[in-house]
Amino acid sequence: MSGNLIDGKQVAARLRNDVAVAVKSLAVTPTLAVVLVGDDPASHVYVRNKIKFTRETGMNSVEQRLPADTSEDAVVETVRALNADPDVDGILVQLPLPDHINSNRVIAEIDPDKDVDGLTEVSAGRLLLGKSGLRPCTPTGCVILAKETLGDLTGKHCVVIGRSILVGKPTALLFLEQNCTVTIAHSRTENLSIVCRGADILIPAVGRPNMVKADWIKAGACVIDVGINRIEDASRKSGTRLVGDVDFAEAEPVAGAITPVPGGVGPMTIACLLRNTVLAACARRG
Ligand code: GUN
Repeated sequence: MSGNLIDGKQVAARLRNDVAVAVKSLAVTPTLAVVLVGDDPASHVYVRNKIKFTRETGMNSVEQRLPADTSEDAVVETVRALNADPDVDGILVQLPLPDHINSNRVIAEIDPDKDVDGLTEVSAGRLLLGKSGLRPCTPTGCVILAKETLGDLTGKHCVVIGRSILVGKPTALLFLEQNCTVTIAHSRTENLSIVCRGADILIPAVGRPNMVKADWIKAGACVIDVGINRIEDASRKSGTRLVGDVDFAEAEPVAGAITPVPGGVGPMTIACLLRNTVLAACARRG
């Protein structure tokens, strides 16, 4: 691995260790509840990892696995029961939910003080207004990696590519909170490559494999690739491999620092979820 690589696995391991130390110092053991509906194989892998790391950091996890044909009302009832359970500090509803379920309605039911994914309207409002609250995990992971690489981010020009509710918009707000000058670029942005080339910190979060090329990147910029795309690769036994939104082979020699995919932002998302669970437990139970 070359010298400009941002090792998300290592930073995430350190953050999980900090979480484990904090858990030991608490009078109560925080509990994370995960709701998983249906049989999506990728979701099962994600949830297994979240539960494994929750337990490794000394916390409790409660798993609610519901069959794919569970009604929307029944999922809502599950969330309400977890809201009412005083032993549950954090609630995560794994997305995507099956097509017949309105995810927005389910998410809206989560008690904002247990919203460790930072997805409810109240959490989004708190972020927008600069009030304390639980912040979304992937955007928080991006900020931690940028600070780890650059130190103080004040005055840096941060360009986020993508305006999704889950990643693009909250990422822009979190970097604004760090006193960055923030641009949100998206599919309708004119001269996208030139806009990106103005970035000190470039954060593609689009879901288009290898979209960002070398000439989109200012020499020495910090590139944090949120994309996780599975593409075909006949040379692999599985026939596929994961790539980001950045053409890594092209971008790596130009960037001052760059996250790999996998092993960049991904591990940070889970570590930030664990951190949010501790923060929720502290806020709720003092
Ligand atoms: N599915 C894929 N990533 C995530 C995530 O960060 N949170 C939730 N709730 N579901 C997801």
